[in-house]
Amino acid sequence: MADPLADAALAARTRAYAPYSRFAVGAAVRTDAGAIHSGCNVENAAYPEGTCAEAGAIAAMVLAGGRRIAELVVAGAGLCTPCGGCRQKLREFGVAGTHVRVVDPAGAVLLRTTLAELLPHSFGPETLSGPG
Ligand code: THU
Repeated sequence: MADPLADAALAARTRAYAPYSRFAVGAAVRTDAGAIHSGCNVENAAYPEGTCAEAGAIAAMVLAGGRRIAELVVAGAGLCTPCGGCRQKLREFGVAGTHVRVVDPAGAVLLRTTLAELLPHSFGPETLSGPG
């Protein structure tokens, strides 16, 4: 069955710049409008300055005018779940039910979950405008 979101994540993974970890990651988001944006990890000789694939996909989405993530696919070697920082970045543009899939380099699904499961009791934009 056609799976353009997973295909985009897998294609992005082939463009990863990961000479230090040798751990290539690709990610793709589908917005509520149906657009797909992808990103890869981009490492840096100053190690903490590297960026994750999810961050690249989010930046591409925002640049294109997207604001709401309906679904995310992450493609890495093994069970590459989004790191803690990326869970918060995704939270900015996702909803509790945002679908998240982790796939292996062949596209096989290793995990199906949601943003709320990855980041329970989360802090988000609406928290800032809440009561009190
Ligand atoms: N990485 C991602 O790009 N996404 C994830 O979900 C987990 C980790 C990257 C960061 C770094 O370049 C490499 O994988 C090893 O941590």
